[in-house]
Amino acid sequence: MALDALPSGTDKRAAVRAMFDRIAPRYDGLNRLLTAGLDQRWRRFAIDSVRVGTGDVVLDLACGTGDLAEQCAARGARVVGVDFAGEMLRGARRRAVRADFLQGDAARLPLRDATATVAVCGFALRNFVELPPVFTELERVLAPGGRVALLEVDRPRARVLRTGHSFYFDRVVPLIGGLLSDRSAYAYLPRSTVYLPPGEELCALLGKAGFTAVQRRELLLGSAQILTGEVPR
Ligand SMILES: C[S@@+](CC[C@H](N)C(=O)[O-])C[C@H]1O[C@@H](n2cnc3c(N)ncnc32)[C@H](O)[C@@H]1O
Repeated sequence: MALDALPSGTDKRAAVRAMFDRIAPRYDGLNRLLTAGLDQRWRRFAIDSVRVGTGDVVLDLACGTGDLAEQCAARGARVVGVDFAGEMLRGARRRAVRADFLQGDAARLPLRDATATVAVCGFALRNFVELPPVFTELERVLAPGGRVALLEVDRPRARVLRTGHSFYFDRVVPLIGGLLSDRSAYAYLPRSTVYLPPGEELCALLGKAGFTAVQRRELLLGSAQILTGEVPR
């Protein structure tokens, strides 16, 4: 299934999985290059926002090559990363990180109820087929009092910023990504923001899934966002 047509349903699931399997070998290097290292700083903000530390059991949802898992493990947490793309997981397992990496789908997590104290998810929301089943799964696997932090890209709202951001995100990123990795994947990645509901709707969906104290914070003038919430005790 090609990515040009912005697929949906099972077509999207298969296309996204195949795409990440293809780009896995160069995924980390391109992230650092295309964001000048900001991606790692944003991951740190996400982990800070849910106070990950020793004693936590962290689910890194759609963990990819394990950047968030690595940062959480470095803070003394026990970490389980879940992703459906085998090649991304292969990258994660190659790191010397004290974490378990499992292959599985975000909408049917291979974890028992109430097993994690924290769930984090980096840059994956727009890749899921549907968000409500994923948020319901997050609520299920988190223990009472559990915290969630979802990091995702966004587009600035102010017109001038939006134009400058769009030039970089929609033109420069596909160009560099196409030269150094996979043309169709790096054309798709910026376009896939159309799958993302507006911030207020994302917050409402988390609320519907049972999370309280839901908050949304913008990063770099609206180029990225972190959503946080808690499972009631
Ligand atoms: C943009 S990458 C982000 C990887 C990592 N979280 C990070 O911060 O770099 C998105 C990841 O979501 C995974 N993914 C997308 N849909 C998924 C699903 N339904 N179940 C599990 N993983 C999924 C992809 O395989 C990919 O590794």
